[in-house]
Amino acid sequence: MSEQQLPTGLQLLEIDPEFRADPYPRLAELQEKCPVRHDPVLEAVVLTGYEDVRAVVNDRSLWRNPARGNPRALFNRGAAASGDAPQTILFMDDPDHARVRGPLTQAFYKRAARMKPQVEVIVDEVLDGLSDRPSFDIIADYGVPVPILVIAAVLGIEKSRLREFREWSEGIIQSLNAMRTPAEEAQLAAAATALDAFFAEAMAERRKAPRDDLITDMVQLQAEGAELTDSEVSVNLQSLLVGGNLTTTDLIGNGVLAFLRHPAELAKLRADPRLVAPAVEEILRYDPPISITGRIASRDLEIRGAPVACKDALINSLRAANRDPSVYEDPDRFDITRKHVPHMAFGGGAHICIGAPLARMEGQVALWKLFQRFPTLKLADQALTYRALPGFRGLERLIVET
Ligand code: HEM
Repeated sequence: MSEQQLPTGLQLLEIDPEFRADPYPRLAELQEKCPVRHDPVLEAVVLTGYEDVRAVVNDRSLWRNPARGNPRALFNRGAAASGDAPQTILFMDDPDHARVRGPLTQAFYKRAARMKPQVEVIVDEVLDGLSDRPSFDIIADYGVPVPILVIAAVLGIEKSRLREFREWSEGIIQSLNAMRTPAEEAQLAAAATALDAFFAEAMAERRKAPRDDLITDMVQLQAEGAELTDSEVSVNLQSLLVGGNLTTTDLIGNGVLAFLRHPAELAKLRADPRLVAPAVEEILRYDPPISITGRIASRDLEIRGAPVACKDALINSLRAANRDPSVYEDPDRFDITRKHVPHMAFGGGAHICIGAPLARMEGQVALWKLFQRFPTLKLADQALTYRALPGFRGLERLIVET
């Protein structure tokens, strides 16, 4: 097959309807024929093999800030032109990345580790609201509210502000949507302004009267000498909403779909609660919420003999890596008791997902309790459609019958 016949970057994004419906055959083709692909449309190097993706995302000497990359690369264009230094750890490089991520991780991990009892209460309450319904939407009625209520509890949002907070959390997610409509653009701008004002006020309040929440932890770390501006604290608390809400929604949605399509696996899970942790890992491998993550070459490199120039963008397909047949036996099979090989769904290295422990625990509680509460849950007759959000895989709706 010639280079011209290989799928290009645009056919590897969720804006392409065929790819969106089922990305796996196209990714498998690219992985087999050209695992290190200089993509002429994205102006980036696309990696699809597990070992290459793993090595690149774990390489702490590579860059993440798109403004440092080749400005021709599709994903770097806006950033390179703006010239602004990123404030969110998602796009920062060291030393700023370590300076901001260090205290955030220190505070967030401690809180996440204590959250399970509260997550159980939140999940039970959401399920109570669904108990009498003959059918409901796993996405809108379960997968969306649970992560937002959990992160609200971590941050310490008062009950009286939950409604607004939910609205802003859904609005700020539009920052991930590169193809925003004017209405979505307005929704994003309103949410960003409201969240900036909310966090500025909340930080000032916590300085006067500390509470038991993550906002207090962050202002206390500042007071103890952590070098963080107020704006960095605010932006990175918002990054938890941007990075964590939709992804956890899709972990729940993609997981419920996989189980309802594979009743034998669901029967195994129902019979043995110890399988819930490996089940969530298998969902993250089999159908991960995030498709790709980026890095930028900080020097001239060679990957499998292919030259990569300094500043070239590297697009790592986490989705393709997770189905690499040289690493996973029968990779297209959903198997919650398969031999464990770490998946790439949370990326790796310096930028490895900060929310992974929380997402794993939430996924485990949400799936286990859902299947316990509804022993005869089944898929309604429906045409499934996925969101056209580049880099993400999640259903628009998933109607189930109780
Ligand atoms: C199943 C759910 C989730 C998935 C699949 C996921 C996936 C990812 C991936 C692939 C990255 C990029 C890693 C890299 O480039 O190596 C990332 C980064 C990040 N995630 Fe998650 N995530 C999830 C849940 C969460 C949650 C619950 C939070 C917060 C509460 C969160 C916050 C973040 C943040 C702040 C980053 C940026 C880290 C950095 O650049 O240093 N994520 N996530």
